[in-house]
Amino acid sequence: MAAQGGRWRRFSEQRAKQLQRQVQVSRCVQTSNHPLFSCAQQYRGMTGTGGSTAAGLCSRCHERDPLRRSTAPAAPQLRRGVQTLQQDIEALRASVLEVFRACRDHLQDGLSEMVAAVQRAQLCHQALLAWQSKAGHLERSLQEVNARYELETQKRKVLHNRLVELKGNIRVHCRIRPLLPFDKELDDAASRDSSMPAGVVHAVDDETILVKCDRPAHALINKTYNFERVYGPAESQHVVFGDVCPLLTSLLDGYNVCILAYGQTGCGKSYTMLGPHSEEQRVPARGPHSDLGILPRAAGELFRLISENPSRSLKVDVSIVEVYNNNIFDLLAKEHRTAVSGPKLEAPTTKAAKQEVSPPTRQPVHSAEDFVALAAGSLRLRAQLATQVHARSSRSHLIITATLTTAPTCSSPGKRPSDRQSHGPPLEGRPPCGRASPGSPGAQEPTEQVHAKLQLVDLAGSECAGVSGVTGSALRETSFINRSLAALADVLGALSERRGHIPYRNSQLTHFLQDVLGDAKLLVILCVSPSRKHVAETLRCLGLGARVRQVQRGQAGGGSPASRRPR
Ligand SMILES: Nc1ncnc2c1ncn2[C@@H]1O[C@H](COP(=O)(O)OP(=O)(O)OP(=O)(O)O)[C@@H](O)[C@H]1O
Ligand SMILES: [Mg+2]
Repeated sequence: MAAQGGRWRRFSEQRAKQLQRQVQVSRCVQTSNHPLFSCAQQYRGMTGTGGSTAAGLCSRCHERDPLRRSTAPAAPQLRRGVQTLQQDIEALRASVLEVFRACRDHLQDGLSEMVAAVQRAQLCHQALLAWQSKAGHLERSLQEVNARYELETQKRKVLHNRLVELKGNIRVHCRIRPLLPFDKELDDAASRDSSMPAGVVHAVDDETILVKCDRPAHALINKTYNFERVYGPAESQHVVFGDVCPLLTSLLDGYNVCILAYGQTGCGKSYTMLGPHSEEQRVPARGPHSDLGILPRAAGELFRLISENPSRSLKVDVSIVEVYNNNIFDLLAKEHRTAVSGPKLEAPTTKAAKQEVSPPTRQPVHSAEDFVALAAGSLRLRAQLATQVHARSSRSHLIITATLTTAPTCSSPGKRPSDRQSHGPPLEGRPPCGRASPGSPGAQEPTEQVHAKLQLVDLAGSECAGVSGVTGSALRETSFINRSLAALADVLGALSERRGHIPYRNSQLTHFLQDVLGDAKLLVILCVSPSRKHVAETLRCLGLGARVRQVQRGQAGGGSPASRRPR
């Protein structure tokens, strides 16, 4: 019984424990169920609200039913419209995409072009910088070269003028003109023999001339002469001027220069100095092949040289005179301008009007064209005559003088440019050539300084009256021409023999040329005819040339003492 009681007790105890545990669990469940309950209540509430909302919606659905029924037939149409719209939208999107792609491609192209351009610009910029530095470098070297050029120019001037002096301040060139139709007309019967050559004067080489003539009843002539330069009949005006040109450089260096053509009538003096005779007095075309004479070429070269160095501001004044029957006529004087060419004795002359004449008119020229036009105008007034030798024979000696002056400066008291350089005495009673004479002696007035003078002289030709067939006043002209040329030969002879007295005053020509004969760089161009008929005159002319070569002088002079030293 006791055992049974024990078992019962143990069972009861276990059961109690179990129950206790269950109570605890239910308590826990209760506590955890509590929020669930409240949630369930909430949901229940919500379900209620949802139910009422659903009921509301159901009632609204019922309300909309008639609307739905009425719109139902339009729905497929709308659907189709929507579909079309969707397709349109798709197409639009596709085209927008296409445009976008095209724009993008364009932009990319533009961008790459821009990049390339920028790169190019950078390259250009770099190149520009390189060029800039090169330009700077070149500028510096140019300055150096200029400085060196200046130095070399100085040296050149010294050497050039030394060379001209070594060649001789008096140079003699000889030009043989070609045989011309009138030479044949002149030839005498004996010389018309076809076995005899018509030309008897030959250029052996650049410096030697040969006169070889075997005429019946005459002694054989076989003579050679040497000159600084001999031009054959075929040599052009251009070649002749080529040898004259260096003298113009000397002129600009401040030396007086005189170029003088000498020879018998019809042998080419005027052709050489002025060019061929032309009815129209116009400025002929330039160029190496043209017939231009020394005057227009020298005028061109003179102004070219002046323009090379404008800082010197040289002015050119021209005077033109002719020595006719041992009188000097100013061809630029106003009273001559209206006169027409004709017998000179009838033309009004200053010399005839009064004993004392003024200095020759000096007219400023500003270009070679001015210079040539002025000379051409004066040439119309020059005395000319048709002789048996030459249809347009010059009956006077023509002297064209270009005076180069520098800008006015203050002269020292009592000293004028004209004191430094006499312009020669030929115009009787005239004051020494110069511009305005200063008012009071000793006054310091700005005066022009004579830099140098260029004289171009086309002499009248020596002639034998028997050959030229002149009579009357023309014969008188011939006698004056021959006498003045003889006076020139005497002066040159006296100079070559270094005589104490030089007979400059024996003729107006030598008197006028006194300065240049005694002082300037003088180039004598002997013009000779190749014709057998003129052989005696040719020999006389060459003999004079040979004598001129003997003349020895000091240094050629210039416009001012300073200018004598090459600058
Ligand atoms: N080198 C030459 N070439 C071609 N023709 C020439 C040459 N030299 C002269 N003449 C011609 O010969 C002729 C005479 O020449 P120019 O008038 O120059 O002689 P000049 O020596 O001046 O004579 P004058 O003393 O009588 O005035 C002209 O018709 C000229 O054109
Ligand atoms: Mg002449």
